[in-house]
Amino acid sequence: MRKVLVTGGAGFVGRHVVARLLALGDEVHCVDQVVPLTGGLLPEHWPLCSPRDYKNFHFYHEDCRAYFQRVNDTDFDYAFHLAAMVGGREMIENNPLAVADDLSIDAEYWQWAVKAKPKKSLCFSSSAAYPIKYQREKGYQLLKEEMISFNDDIGMPDMSYGWAKLTCEYLAKLAYEKHGLKSVVYRPFSGYGEDQDDHYPFPAICKRVLANRGKPLITVWGTGRQMRDFIHIEDCVSGILKTMDRIDDAGAINLTTGIYTSFIDFAKLAAQLCGYQPEVRGTSDKPEGVFARAGDPTKLNKLGFQYTIDFRQGIERALKLYQA
Ligand SMILES: NC(=O)c1ccc[n+]([C@@H]2O[C@H](COP(=O)([O-])OP(=O)(O)OC[C@H]3O[C@@H](n4cnc5c(N)ncnc54)[C@H](O)[C@@H]3O)[C@@H](O)[C@H]2O)c1
Repeated sequence: MRKVLVTGGAGFVGRHVVARLLALGDEVHCVDQVVPLTGGLLPEHWPLCSPRDYKNFHFYHEDCRAYFQRVNDTDFDYAFHLAAMVGGREMIENNPLAVADDLSIDAEYWQWAVKAKPKKSLCFSSSAAYPIKYQREKGYQLLKEEMISFNDDIGMPDMSYGWAKLTCEYLAKLAYEKHGLKSVVYRPFSGYGEDQDDHYPFPAICKRVLANRGKPLITVWGTGRQMRDFIHIEDCVSGILKTMDRIDDAGAINLTTGIYTSFIDFAKLAAQLCGYQPEVRGTSDKPEGVFARAGDPTKLNKLGFQYTIDFRQGIERALKLYQA
């Protein structure tokens, strides 16, 4: 039985990671403060898994920074470091200093790791760490892992969120070089799933399309032309479990499909699956973020993983659940 720490394990990604690890029989230590404005939920309220049914589940309802001060277990096989202030595009754009808490959370994680020496750290960065210069309307390109090089060029990331994630990656690299701490860095693109918090576009658009069934007009944030790379959370977790032992030196892996989908096309597809064909229009009063963000899946594919749930299937699954 592997002993695994999951910080931020009550959040959207964390719940899916924890569920999968529990099913594999791992001893899972989940620390999460369930912070307001994040996707965190107490274990009694997880929509798709009942972790309390597992004897190998241990939950610590506290700030991970307090946990790092309190707990010095030196026998963790893996540490999934997911705890972060994320909160969706509105929080990233309008509350950048709250998001900057991630700098402190990550600094304390790595200082703890030097003492506790988990055999392997999984460091959750983001596609937001990529330079925004590659994501503009003119000349956007698929984002490749090597576009961030700490030996050469890193570029300006997306707001304080991207900046914090970039710093976490750099600390992972230093932890490996100075202390021999093994880690792998993940850069998820737009992970989505039916149990995601409503501040995110995926559940918000699906629920709006359902609620307005038959109406002539649906609105989406921004111009609606902005494009993202939607990858189902189950594929993210499968990609992580498949690749996490393949890299030790803080090298990065995209969790990506490589496919651009605009918000307008997303809403049109969801409406089509609900049996109607509204006009879809952007709203100018809500932020849209960068114009085009999708990842190059070459490295992920070479490491033996390819996504299995296409976006249409993912939307169908969610619509079915929300209707029920
Ligand atoms: N969901 C995605 O598609 C995506 C994309 C890119 C990166 N990521 C990264 O994956 C990680 C998880 O993201 P998510 O989508 O599950 O977000 P989330 O908001 O659902 O989960 C984050 C969790 O961290 C917890 N948390 C925040 N501060 C904490 C603290 N100080 N101590 C303990 N717990 C704390 C929150 O309570 C929450 O449960 C983050 O690091 C995020 O940057 C996710």
